Amino acid sequence: MAYDSENASSICMEGGKQLEGTVRIQGSKNAALPVLAASILIPDTCILKNVPCITDIGCMENLLESTGAVLEKREEAHTLRINAVNIKEYRLPAKYVSAMRSSVVLMGALLGRIGEVLVDYPGGCVIGKRPIDLHLYGLEKLGAQIFTDKNRIHAYADELKGAQISFPFPSVGATQNTILAAVTAYGTTVIKNAAREPEITALCDFLNKAGANIEIGHDFIETGKIVIHGVEISRLHGVTYEIIPDRIVAGTYLFAALAAGGRVALENAPATQLRSVCDLIERMGGRIDSDKENEKNRLLVCVDEPVNIRNVGFVETDVYPAFPTDLQSPLLACACVSKGELVIRERIFSSRFRIVEELVRMGADIEILDEERVRVRGVEQLAGRTVIARELRGGASLVIAGLAASGITTVKDICYIKRGYQDIVGDLKGLGARIEYVYS
Ligand code: UD1
Repeated sequence: MAYDSENASSICMEGGKQLEGTVRIQGSKNAALPVLAASILIPDTCILKNVPCITDIGCMENLLESTGAVLEKREEAHTLRINAVNIKEYRLPAKYVSAMRSSVVLMGALLGRIGEVLVDYPGGCVIGKRPIDLHLYGLEKLGAQIFTDKNRIHAYADELKGAQISFPFPSVGATQNTILAAVTAYGTTVIKNAAREPEITALCDFLNKAGANIEIGHDFIETGKIVIHGVEISRLHGVTYEIIPDRIVAGTYLFAALAAGGRVALENAPATQLRSVCDLIERMGGRIDSDKENEKNRLLVCVDEPVNIRNVGFVETDVYPAFPTDLQSPLLACACVSKGELVIRERIFSSRFRIVEELVRMGADIEILDEERVRVRGVEQLAGRTVIARELRGGASLVIAGLAASGITTVKDICYIKRGYQDIVGDLKGLGARIEYVYS
């Protein structure tokens, strides 16, 4: 589907209007990207449904094509057909790799499929130190030879072999890379302290449907243990798979409703994955209801009196199932207009407070205490301003701030927002917000 966002450069909105209505949640960016990468392990055709129409997915599509995959898109149906019968190219083009950090998961997939990969260091949003030592650690344990220089990584393996891998930190991307390389490795791999995020479970689910042999127990959240029994590449086969809904987009709209007030129903929302977020929203004074009406997985948030929304003192981000780092800035935007004080501790990424400066320009009272912590004191209202998006989630959070502010807010450089939100304006407009894309 071609969205109006395609050529837009800014978003302009008039704040102060409560949100009312229903929004359908798009497919998950962070689940779709590794599944797309995984498709090149499979010497067959996979059909992926509910693929979000966002620029990061476009970038991954270009990367897959560069390896020899043949893609066919039906955008109106969010369906992507990937034929990966002829994967030959091990060199990934720098222009796409440098644009997106998750291009790094193609390392595991290419090593597993053709035994070699040459890649520049990946890019992505500038949200603090983002090393890839754990990715390389996992791949080396599986037997890959890795050579790095200032700009590039060259990895190859005549044969990958199953191994015992224990991560010192449960990195999402490193876990995905290791799974991808281990699927066709000889023997059994055991990953300990794997990342527990739902996007990991989704990747394993996709791969198992395609013929992989991955054990991920019901107690995975407690154990963090994944066991992968390697299979021959020829055992992997095409599959039709639906991408799970985006918990971060859903959370963004929950915080938008909290900041602006009103009653919002999220359709196709992953309620169980949002437990920590919904708990916090209830503690702040919002009402949350979930039901499975017509199998649509609806999540409702009601804020009858936005003036009564209050800060809860202290919140920290952490790995799943705790409060997610990707919703830290939506919370921050909301906290600016909530009663009382909140200290937020960001435990996953350093320097993830790049929107503070913009929020302060809108009248927020925020103090950066140190690299990990900010203190927010709620003010009655923010004032509309022209502000600049500097990264994906921070950009979306400036839209939240604009919805709660008086007057007109313009968010510039929305290329960052388009990396993850397929139509944030269309979605919020459907909820009654006075908001438009600006083309210039
Ligand atoms: C993924 C998500 C991102 C989310 C993050 C944490 C995608 C495309 N992105 O990012 O939206 O915010 O998980 O939930 O799915 N680290 C190292 N060495 C490594 C790898 C990571 O030190 O080799 C550190 C990072 O610097 C960071 C922390 O580990 O401080 C978390 O990173 P990680 O879990 O790997 O996140 P990503 O996979 O990059």
